[in-house]
Amino acid sequence: MSEAIGYELIGDIAVLSAQNPPVNALGLDVRQGLVDGMARAEADGAKAVLIYGEGRTYFAGADIREFGRPPTEPLLPNVCTRIESSPLIVVSALHGTALGGGLEIALGSHYRIAVPSARVGLPEVLIGVMPGAGGSQRLPRLIGVDASVDIITSGRQVGAKEALELGILDRVEDGAPRDIGLAYARELIDSGAERRPISEMRAPKAVDFDALYDVVFKKSRGMIAPATAVRGIQASCELPFVQGMYRERELFMELMASDQRQGMIHAFFSERAVGKLPELKGIKPRDLNAIGVIGGGTMGAGIATAALLSGLSVVMLEMSAEAAEAAKGRIEGNLGGALKRGKLSQAQFEDLTTKALTLSTNYEALSDVDLVIEAVFEDMEVKKKVFTQLDAVCKPGAVLASNTSYLDINEIAACTNRPEDVIGLHFFSPAHVMKLLEVVVADATAPDVVATGFMLGARMRKISVRAGVCDGFIGNRILSTYRTCADHMILDGASPYQIDKALTDFGFAMGPFAVADLAGLDIGWSVRKRKRAEGLDPRARDSSYADKLCEDGHFGQKTGKGYYIYDAGKRAGVPNPDVMPMIASERLVKGITAREFTDEEIVRRYMAAMVNEAAKVVGEGIARRPLDVDVTLLYGYGFPRYRGGPLKWADMVGLPALLADIKTWAEEDDYFWQPAPLLEQLVAEGRTFDDLNKEAAQ
Ligand code: COA
Repeated sequence: MSEAIGYELIGDIAVLSAQNPPVNALGLDVRQGLVDGMARAEADGAKAVLIYGEGRTYFAGADIREFGRPPTEPLLPNVCTRIESSPLIVVSALHGTALGGGLEIALGSHYRIAVPSARVGLPEVLIGVMPGAGGSQRLPRLIGVDASVDIITSGRQVGAKEALELGILDRVEDGAPRDIGLAYARELIDSGAERRPISEMRAPKAVDFDALYDVVFKKSRGMIAPATAVRGIQASCELPFVQGMYRERELFMELMASDQRQGMIHAFFSERAVGKLPELKGIKPRDLNAIGVIGGGTMGAGIATAALLSGLSVVMLEMSAEAAEAAKGRIEGNLGGALKRGKLSQAQFEDLTTKALTLSTNYEALSDVDLVIEAVFEDMEVKKKVFTQLDAVCKPGAVLASNTSYLDINEIAACTNRPEDVIGLHFFSPAHVMKLLEVVVADATAPDVVATGFMLGARMRKISVRAGVCDGFIGNRILSTYRTCADHMILDGASPYQIDKALTDFGFAMGPFAVADLAGLDIGWSVRKRKRAEGLDPRARDSSYADKLCEDGHFGQKTGKGYYIYDAGKRAGVPNPDVMPMIASERLVKGITAREFTDEEIVRRYMAAMVNEAAKVVGEGIARRPLDVDVTLLYGYGFPRYRGGPLKWADMVGLPALLADIKTWAEEDDYFWQPAPLLEQLVAEGRTFDDLNKEAAQ
């Protein structure tokens, strides 16, 4: 018998306990153990079988690591059928997260009981597939089409209370899963309860599935799994159970073979791998209870909000009492959002804003905090002044962090007597909402300071990525390159609107010009001015049409006008008619004859620019692994998750073809299109970015 499933006979109840930490994923051993356990229970003359999970959860799903490999018997759908068709009464007792294949095992059982904290769900669409072990056939028979469509196409987790109301669970009770399961099984036997196979229940009532398919497809923004799952649910209404299972399998295998499945699973494992760095193994972070935030503008107030919500006390330092009050107002506004959504009680709101938050205009107030983050104006001299003062007042061992988005942390660290305590913590605005945190490690940063940065990210429930020092770190450096590529395409004939549309069709949450309007056109303008002041390479193509917008006082959404015009109260804008003439006149000055771009070429060039710069970022060690770039773009830049990230996308389209494109385009502009040495090396060796991820994990 497999060790992944324990077996015990308690009177006339056979107990099968999952023992496959950490999450009792349904790998081969577990599936075999369940099949063997059922046979043994029947041979032992038991009347009922109880299935539950040891450790933190019932089965949390199929073993995702097996996806993409040839399936090995016993397959999960057959395990569920084996359980369901047993002549014994089968009870599942749920705790933790009964997800995906886990819930499918529970649905194969005849009765389901759970602890109040348990959650159930069919999150397969979130990893690019759909339920493949009867979930799309059994759940609709149990709770109807509408509720099943909601649960399956959203992949959301359903709490025990709601699951009970929906009829997914039969009972919810406090206690250890084994104890409540045994008591329930006993009661069922004693009351003469019958087996209750869902497959024998009546088919649910059909709806207009073609219309539903269209709605779900549209809502999924390019993701194919949710709409495909609708076809599976349709089969539960229209086909006998066994044929429905075949149809489900067919659809499931289609998705399993898709690039989207590969992309989503890459994203799943990458976001978990991103914080696992060899340099942090065994390193204890420093204590973290109170932090200081310098500067209470949008960014500083967002950081303070995130810190307060994660249980830290915050000293907010501003230049004047009025500025400090304004910062407090912003923080209260942010927390008010959480209050409105019910994430915070009124009492908690009061505590956070009156007790956990302190305002000050005096650096001395920072003498006792464990970590300080400055979010002041992006100017090296200003930052240096701040850090000199911090060096003078902060206690020994305090972490001194800068939220700069591109300045040299080494230079900032050098103006203190404790460069080992200095680090970059680059938040994304709004900082209490955006999930990404770049932890920027300077030359002298101590490992336990890096560990503390990651711990802060984890406490704030952010995805933290390690980055090295360079202009723009991982994300903004790559952004600057693909934005430049977009500007080149505009000079050559594309419009900002065609580019935005081509990229949202590709799956980006927003196109680059809509993003620029949202972030504020003044940001790009100041970067361009800085770069010009530093001296542009004479071979670089510069473009100035966007400067004209800024010179006229149009900074995007905040002024109501940028590439788009925004009517009050509306988030989406309409194209600004002044923009195309500005572009046309720049083309005229530069002697460029506009040419047509296809959407495909736009995407190809934009993505190649992104991948090429990303390969430089990895090659130079700014990002430790390709997956660090992927996660950065997924969480900070609206990259479509179902494509896995730019470097996973590159692997899937093929590195040789991408490099060939870059070399072709280099014939017209060999300054911009300089192939990344790492890309050339991988192509020469016939390897992929993911090979580098795998090597790093060993
Ligand atoms: N298959 C294989 N490994 C899995 C897994 C699965 N279905 N679910 C989780 N794991 C692994 C994680 O990769 C992680 O491994 P690591 O420690 O080596 O990084 C470990 O289990 C713990 O998972 P983690 O996500 O860090 O823990 P958590 O407590 O935050 O969340 C879950 C637990 C189960 C909610 C979450 O992991 C999850 O959503 N898993 C996917 C569930 C799913 O999609 N099931 C459907 C598949 S059919």
